[in-house]
Amino acid sequence: MNVVRTVADVREALGPARRAQRSIGLVPTMGALHEGHLSLVRAAREHNDVVVVSLFVNPAQFEDAGDLAAYPRDEQRDAVLAADAGTDLLFVPTRDEVYPPGFATTVSVGGVLTATLEGAQRGTTHFDAVTTVVTKLLNMVSPDVAYFGQKDAQQALVVRRLVADLNLPVRICVWPTIREPDGLARSSRNARLNADERERALALRSALDAAQRAVTAGERDADAVGLTARAAMISFGVEPEYVALVAAGSLAPVARIETDTLVAVAARVGATRLIDNTILHPNGRP
Ligand code: PAJ
Repeated sequence: MNVVRTVADVREALGPARRAQRSIGLVPTMGALHEGHLSLVRAAREHNDVVVVSLFVNPAQFEDAGDLAAYPRDEQRDAVLAADAGTDLLFVPTRDEVYPPGFATTVSVGGVLTATLEGAQRGTTHFDAVTTVVTKLLNMVSPDVAYFGQKDAQQALVVRRLVADLNLPVRICVWPTIREPDGLARSSRNARLNADERERALALRSALDAAQRAVTAGERDADAVGLTARAAMISFGVEPEYVALVAAGSLAPVARIETDTLVAVAARVGATRLIDNTILHPNGRP
């Protein structure tokens, strides 16, 4: 596996593959790689000739300086994991390479997709920062396919919107959430949980399970399902930031669960902010 740090080097490294019309898959990450990221790398490996993983902790998408400072960084460990999962090229740009002096452009997806859930909670600058850096990474690497996780369901929808609206010549693939054996969604932030918080972190998955059970039992009222999910979370001593039932494709609020509905939850467990989601299929699996 090669490691490159500049846009010029990443383009040079990929030139021969591109000229030979070999397919290039990109997995954008902020490092601190875990099984969630690695499942995307393995998918990219399976479906492409060349696999690029980018590793860049994007300061602009952290609203909280403490969260940015606490974000785990270990490039050597990430490099070993990325290589083992089949990465050909690890792209680790510096902050200046991504945001050179004078940088003044923002790529912003408007509407409900970015205003709701994480956008409402973290402020619209969060998704602006994500869409700006994702646009840049796609332009830097020019992959045929880019891989994202359903763990960040809203981010995946926003990226799909971005790519469609700007006619970016890339296919977006979204892969399922990878979980710990007890159901906790894998996240770089899980490492910050102490033993008590790690137990209570199951509140998120438990809320999603409760929502699923309610719908399986025939409940179709979104408020009722939301309250059930909320109660499950609170029983773990975790106060939800939000429990939202929204249309899985548009993120518009739903009153009745008649079609595929995303249940998205967010909560702080101790000082650590966690998110999770699942899609309810009231009419059976699609
Ligand atoms: P990061 O949080 O490092 O996540 C990189 C990719 O891994 C995202 O597409 C995310 O959805 C996916 N991922 C994280 N946890 C996962 C899990 N448990 N199962 C499956 N996939 C998982 O998301 C970002 O970085 C950044 O916003 C980025 C897109 C790189 C832009 O800076």
